[in-house]
Amino acid sequence: TDILVLHGPNLNLLGQREPEIYGSTTLADINQKLVQQANQAGFQLDSFQSNWEGALVDRIQQAYAEHIRFIIINPAAFTHTSVTLRDALLGVAIPFIEVHLSNVHAREAFRHHSYLSDKAQAVICGLGADGYYFALSHVINRLDSAQA
Ligand code: DQA
Repeated sequence: TDILVLHGPNLNLLGQREPEIYGSTTLADINQKLVQQANQAGFQLDSFQSNWEGALVDRIQQAYAEHIRFIIINPAAFTHTSVTLRDALLGVAIPFIEVHLSNVHAREAFRHHSYLSDKAQAVICGLGADGYYFALSHVINRLDSAQA
């Protein structure tokens, strides 16, 4: 696998969860599109969602062993709380893009701070599910030029 997409807590509820904020697309739809987009470009993509911080840490550590080249992560609420996820991503030294469906800066103050953003290659927020597709499109370009 070349690219790993990680989804944090409650993102399994996409489609039914506060649709006015997060949209009506389900996580399964998003993951399926991402796999298609990656495959069309000749890359393999895996996705993983968990409501458990430790499970996400384990998946990040496993990504290192699998030689995953890039991570796209929506850490959801862990964005604003998790030194653990930050340390895991720094520990494996795999470049990552942070994605949020909503514009976190237009919401409650506690959503304005991220434990990951200053270490991310890029941060995309407010574009809904498109944020994931734009992130992946960038990753594909980068991996392509690394191979050329
Ligand atoms: C989110 C924003 C977070 O603040 C929130 O806790 C989420 C989803 C987003 O995608 O907009 O669960 O990461």
